[in-house]
Amino acid sequence: MRLPYRNKKTTLWVMLGIVVVTMFLFKFTELRPICFFRDEAVPGSGLSGQQSSAMMRGDAKYVEGDSQKVYSYSRDMPLIFIGGVPRSGTTLMRAMLDAHPDVRCGQETRVIPRILQLRSHWLKSEKESLRLVEAGITKEVMNSAIAQFCLEIIAKHGDPAPRLCNKDPLTLKMGTYVIELFPNAKFLFMVRDGRATVHSIISRKVTITGFDLTSYRQCMQKWNHAIEVMHDQCKEIGKERCMMVYYEQLVLHPEEWMRKILEFLDVPWNDSVLHHEEFINKPNGVPLSKVERSSDQVIKPVNLEALSKWVGNIPEDVVRDMADIAPMLSVLGYDPFANPPDYAKSQSKAMGK
Ligand SMILES: *[C@@H]1O[C@H](CO)[C@@H](O)[C@H](O)[C@H]1NC(C)=O
Repeated sequence: MRLPYRNKKTTLWVMLGIVVVTMFLFKFTELRPICFFRDEAVPGSGLSGQQSSAMMRGDAKYVEGDSQKVYSYSRDMPLIFIGGVPRSGTTLMRAMLDAHPDVRCGQETRVIPRILQLRSHWLKSEKESLRLVEAGITKEVMNSAIAQFCLEIIAKHGDPAPRLCNKDPLTLKMGTYVIELFPNAKFLFMVRDGRATVHSIISRKVTITGFDLTSYRQCMQKWNHAIEVMHDQCKEIGKERCMMVYYEQLVLHPEEWMRKILEFLDVPWNDSVLHHEEFINKPNGVPLSKVERSSDQVIKPVNLEALSKWVGNIPEDVVRDMADIAPMLSVLGYDPFANPPDYAKSQSKAMGK
């Protein structure tokens, strides 16, 4: 339709007017689609209902819990991610959080770090990246698909809860990307003396890609590399969204540390986190996996048994070269020459006390 110039201008103004009026109707009257504008606050996000519902517009999904209580989940929710090298207390951490009535972590999903890794493989290959972009799979398309995949898994592999949490330790290796997908998520980075971690990996025969379970030296090198990557990611994410938690400090001073952790996560204090063993496999408690290696350990209360089991089990030449094999020990405040270090004192410097 050809219109004279003047008419064209008028038509544009009229159309703009219609758009503005429609927006007002949607925002302030009962005409708005209810499911897009639920005025629920997202617990712990520090957002009011108005703000959070505006942010989740068109993006939130819902799951129904007991007594028809409805929980929403979306990319903007304050998810909790627990990361670290396997055998560093990540299961203990998630069990203590699972004991809290508002939080659900559950078992390792295993597929979340895998899909993140798959994406980084695609990205590393220039040819593949080009093919994807040519096929219309832009960064935004990819990110929204991966975020939805992760969300569905996290939200639905366990009971609904106001605060959802994920413990797949290696996810932290791609931590900055996880924060890109979920801007309000927070990481807990479990750190433990690498000698104890490696002794546990080897003595319990925990298979981890790249770790040669017949060699303490090789495993210490692998530990060093993995924790260096995670340490860098955690630094890049920043203190607001990534908190380092020393396993030794957590078991030595559980209440002090759980108070700091819950404050960091914006979760109200509840004593139940100090008695996770009372909630094992109870409704809304700590679901355990029959096949996860740590299950037989977290059925016990928090204890100090595992602090220095490694002493005397590492070959002498490895002990002698420890500072060179695993420089991250010193970076994290563990004396590579002390066998064992005094854990009650050793990290006070690294933690800036
Ligand atoms: C703490 O959690 C228990 C269940 O785990 C619950 O019954 C209790 O009401 C909670 N206490 C507070 C202060 O929220």
